[in-house]
Amino acid sequence: EKGTYPHYMLKEIDEQPGVIRKIVSAYTVEDELTIDADIKTALSEADRLYIIAAGTSYHAGLVGKQYFEKMAKIPVEVHIASEFGYNMPLLSEKPLFIFISQSGETADSRQVLVKVKELGYKALTITNVQGSTLSREADYTLLLHAGPEIAVASTKAYVAQVAVLAITAYVEGKSKGLDIDFDLKAELGVAANAIQTIIDKKEEIQQVADAVLATTRNAFFIGRGIDYCVSMEGALKLKEISYIQAEGFAGGELKHGTIALIEEGTPVFALASQKAMSLNVRGNMKEVVARGANPIIISMEGMEEADDSMVLPAVQELLTPLVTVIPLQLISYYAALYRDCDVDKPRNLAKSVTVE
Ligand code: F6R
Repeated sequence: EKGTYPHYMLKEIDEQPGVIRKIVSAYTVEDELTIDADIKTALSEADRLYIIAAGTSYHAGLVGKQYFEKMAKIPVEVHIASEFGYNMPLLSEKPLFIFISQSGETADSRQVLVKVKELGYKALTITNVQGSTLSREADYTLLLHAGPEIAVASTKAYVAQVAVLAITAYVEGKSKGLDIDFDLKAELGVAANAIQTIIDKKEEIQQVADAVLATTRNAFFIGRGIDYCVSMEGALKLKEISYIQAEGFAGGELKHGTIALIEEGTPVFALASQKAMSLNVRGNMKEVVARGANPIIISMEGMEEADDSMVLPAVQELLTPLVTVIPLQLISYYAALYRDCDVDKPRNLAKSVTVE
């Protein structure tokens, strides 16, 4: 039930700190983050991971690639489910397939699962729904523990997917004896608190949304590295519920085409959470500002500059997707409200897409 909330989406955004805490406790055994031994074995035996998903879950998969490659040193490919099944790439010798799906019912993902099982490969499903089709038909399941997600636009499931992917990659990296120089359990707690701090200031985010998105036809989201993954998710959220045309892309790509679309007042959101890349992103923003764009720079405490629109509490650098996505979710929520859109049930969309 949505109780006193005007929309499920806002309720689900608010639940996110609790979801992270729940996941940490669900994946903790004797004070240590843990995943099932057979899943660890499957990960250790794989020479490459193939992450298959759609929409928001695909965007979580892109973050997951960073986690598995950086923490567990396993190469990863991330594929859009509807593309993979009918145009299968050349596979490695010992692939492990990871399906990410909130509902566990997405037909595009299921057709891939059926094909890879026919080929004799192992599959792990990361889902919010125990007993769902993708969970039943895969060899292994990791649950998201996010509770029912009712709003069509996915929020807490994305954050849960990112957290579970981080735990899986971290546990695998640790069990391989790799050097990971932070305590993920503690850092997820820090991230949960950071999300709460951002949510507590949602009125400020509403002001930004009302000011820059009230009348615009389009908006852009840029980032580099892991911020690029989140910028695509920010654009998808905005498109889905406010019907504003939005695009998320790599900051460096601006000058290769998209900058032609910048007009006086075009909103450009930039994520600048990665130390090695934030100066380049800021450079990209100067290029669009010089052409009249309305810049909204979202940075982290300790890395902020004077004119940044939002400065988020600092978290472990790999975990920034958990916090940078929150203002983007809220911005799309408030833009949809301002434009009088049906937030929880956007036109033409269904919560679970059971046709290919
Ligand atoms: C976006 C959204 C969709 C889903 C996609 C996959 O907010 O909800 O893009 O992420 O349809 O759904 P699942 O995760 O259930 O496979």
